[in-house]
Amino acid sequence: MCPPAHFKVTYSINPWMDPTKPVDVPLAVAQWEDLRDRYLALGHTVEILTPSRGLPDMVFAANGATVVDGRVLGAKFAYPERSEEASAHLDWFRAHGYADLDLRLPEHVNEGEGDFAVTASWILAGRGFRSSPLAADEAQEFFGRPVIGLELVDPRYYHLDTALCVLDDARDEIMYFPEAFSRGSRAVLERLLPDALKVTDEDAAVLGLNAVSDGRHVLLPQAAVGLYAPLRARGFEPIGMDLSELLKGGGSVKCCTQELRV
Ligand code: ARG
Repeated sequence: MCPPAHFKVTYSINPWMDPTKPVDVPLAVAQWEDLRDRYLALGHTVEILTPSRGLPDMVFAANGATVVDGRVLGAKFAYPERSEEASAHLDWFRAHGYADLDLRLPEHVNEGEGDFAVTASWILAGRGFRSSPLAADEAQEFFGRPVIGLELVDPRYYHLDTALCVLDDARDEIMYFPEAFSRGSRAVLERLLPDALKVTDEDAAVLGLNAVSDGRHVLLPQAAVGLYAPLRARGFEPIGMDLSELLKGGGSVKCCTQELRV
């Protein structure tokens, strides 16, 4: 995670971002600290990436890399405003004992876990707004896991992690908003993951899918009130978080969290 010390909305690269709306940085920091403290209280370890002035979106740490089986695929951002974040992430991994052999500088544009979701059987790869379709092949070759490309079609759901969330990566259990995907990709999801929890427009529109699950607790934007009962019915414990300031950048719980699958 990367604290939002320098968070701002000075440019607009997704429909949620309005540079004319002010951002309350102390409130953003307090909300982010709540999320961090919640992970710690649940017994998870949180590593901290130092934020850089001039990289206002760096708080969205999920975009900086993808780690699977201890191997790190670096990011390559679609917009120049965020491009420098990629090296900050790779430097962190190098400084924390990751060997060069297990680090890859990507050839094709990929925005990390913004567009890669890891289940037991596959890596799901979003494309259409940010990551290149070619990033899916690159990830498959690097991680040695089958990668399923999925086409995003609604600009509000510009990253896969705004439209789909892995609930249990040991059982291929996910939730998603079907209308965010092309017809073909919807059919693929239906075929691969027929038991998935399908989310309504109302819950998706408050970024309810931008959630993190440890297989039992699901930390999600608290406004996604329609998700609590179906999650409980499946044996999960939903935990609502208020990240309203970060929503002004187009992100919530998942965007602020890069998972280290070591
Ligand atoms: N403002 C950031 C962008 O548009 C938000 C990134 C959100 N991160 C995510 N994993 N969806 O790039």
